[in-house]
This record gives sequence, C-alpha cells and structure tokens, in this order.
Amino acid sequence: MKLAVFASGNGTNFTALVDYVQENLPQVSIVRLIVDHRDAYVIERARKAQIPTTYINYVKAGSKHEAEAQIMAQLTSDQVQGILLAGFMRIIGADLLAAFPNKIINIHPALLPSFPGQHGIEDAFDYGVKVTGVTIHYINSQIDSGRIIAQQPVRIEEDDDLASLAAKIHAVEHRLYPQTLKYLVEKGVFTV
Ligand code: GAR
Repeated sequence: MKLAVFASGNGTNFTALVDYVQENLPQVSIVRLIVDHRDAYVIERARKAQIPTTYINYVKAGSKHEAEAQIMAQLTSDQVQGILLAGFMRIIGADLLAAFPNKIINIHPALLPSFPGQHGIEDAFDYGVKVTGVTIHYINSQIDSGRIIAQQPVRIEEDDDLASLAAKIHAVEHRLYPQTLKYLVEKGVFTV
C-alpha cells in the first residue's frame, strides 16, 4: 500500500510516521513527500529516510487548481492510494478531495472542534482550558472539520507554559498518528 505525506515545516510527525511504518507496517510504504515550502526542514528528514520529495510552488503554479494538478500527476505516477497530512498548512482543494475520497487524513494539535486553524496549541493555552489534546480526522472541504477518527486528551497543568504544553502535545502526536494509521490500514480504508 503506497501512501504520500504532505508537510510544510519541521516534519517531526513525518519522521514518526516513517519510522513506525518501517518497523511495524511492512504492507505500507511511504513513497513520496509533498512539500509547499522550499526551505522546510522536513525535506532534510525525507532525504535522510530516502523518500523522494516533490516541492510544489503554489505561487508559481498560479492557482490551487494548477498546484493540485501537479500533485495529482506525481501521485498518479507513484500509484499513491492515500494521503497523510502532517503539518501541511493549506486547505486541500476539490480536485484532490475528489481523487482521494475519505483517503486524506490530517492531524490537528487540539481537541476539535475546539481551536481549529494554524495555532491550535497556542489558542488552547491562551484560552485557559484545562484539557486540550490531539485529533486525527478525515479531510473535507472546510478547515479542520472532517469526521473525527481518534482523539487523545492532554491536561494543561498549573505549571505548564506554552513550550511545555507544545512538548506534551507533540509527544502524543508522535504516538497517536502512527497508531491511528495502523488502525486505518487494518480497516482497509486506503484499499476500498
Ligand atoms: C503539528 O503539531 C500538527 O498537529 C500541526 O502542525 C504541526 C506540525 O509539526 N498541524 C496543524 O496545526 C494543522 N492545522 P511537525 O512539522 O513537526 O510534524
């Protein structure tokens, strides 16, 4: 089973997924990283893991439609069956959604539907909630609102600051995303 990961930044979730798949899911292969920032550190992670990267220049492409056409061409040639968004900071457009119905998964660093958007950890911390967490969900055409697959809570303690909360969230992400991938693979989500 061939999957692609889309990422925009550091790529710690990319590495957690790649390491887990290599050790625990012999039937799965992460065959491509799609990245939308030329200087994203995740590119270096992919190079070390020997996973080919495609950089998509959305500005040069001129439109989301054209950028996604380039992505589609690459994923078709790779025979990719599903997509894992791992810190990919763009809304997926209608073309990709139609090509991968219920086969695009996202991770969000808060308990959706609370604190959607690009700053889920910070927004939860600033609001002052006592419990936040991590959500894995299917992608639909709106931001962070597709059907939820898995969630894990994280308590915000009195002595937490934003950095310590972020560290706790990321530690949960790096376990929950691979475990949820295993569940989805075993359920046959990417093969129907
Ligand atoms: C992760 O915390 C992920 O949940 C978040 O971006 C971070 C990427 O970290 N995604 C979103 O906020 C999506 N709305 P990473 O590059 O180290 O994996």
